[in-house]
Amino acid sequence: MRAGLSPAPKEFVTTPGIPPPPKIALPGEAPGTATPVDWASFFGRSGPVEIEIGSGRGRFLTDEAAARPGTSFLGAEIEVEYTRIAQARAEKMGLTNVRFARLDGKSFVLARVPEASLAAIHVFFPDPWPKKRHAKRRLFEPDFVRAAARALVPGGLLRVATDNLPYFEAIREVLDAEPAIEKVPGSEAGWSSGTDYERKYEKAGRPMARGVWRRR
Ligand SMILES: C[S@@+](CC[C@H](N)C(=O)[O-])C[C@H]1O[C@@H](n2cnc3c(N)ncnc32)[C@H](O)[C@@H]1O
Repeated sequence: MRAGLSPAPKEFVTTPGIPPPPKIALPGEAPGTATPVDWASFFGRSGPVEIEIGSGRGRFLTDEAAARPGTSFLGAEIEVEYTRIAQARAEKMGLTNVRFARLDGKSFVLARVPEASLAAIHVFFPDPWPKKRHAKRRLFEPDFVRAAARALVPGGLLRVATDNLPYFEAIREVLDAEPAIEKVPGSEAGWSSGTDYERKYEKAGRPMARGVWRRR
């Protein structure tokens, strides 16, 4: 350690060649916290909770939070800079019912989200990892889908949009194979997430696919 520098926080100490552990602690929690999240104490109130995985610069979630003040929202975003931008946006808008956190959304849902605690999970334009050798990095695979379905309240929604049509087919397959959820009939049309990516692709006339699944 160089003189004058304090030791790196524990969560950032890594061994060369070994990836750091997934980021699953919320702001204010000790690094490595892995207990089930207490949503009421995190948000300082009870009521419905929704999360977005890969919330980017936070446009979708801040719009939702402004429109639905009775619901609490968490944006799980792996890139620290996007998390900061999104949080600043929420603060500028004076929103107290939305928070953004630097999290690995997949590990967070798998490890920390209690059963039947979410009214909705939003995933818009997830990284498609199109190369076969990277497919295991995709968000949508059976373990994640099982954990996401378990995290939803009965009737809770999992909403997905992407411009990568082959990935959408793979997503549809894995979601349709999960017995705890069912596709909402007609949910491939008639709505739009309004995220930054969606606006950009809409302008470019790029085809997109959408769908909503619901916990039985
Ligand atoms: C293509 S961008 C879409 C951003 C936003 N949803 C939109 O539609 O404008 C994908 C986002 O997912 C984030 N991301 C990728 N893997 C993630 C993970 N495991 N957990 C949380 N965020 C993730 C990326 O950093 C990026 O912000």
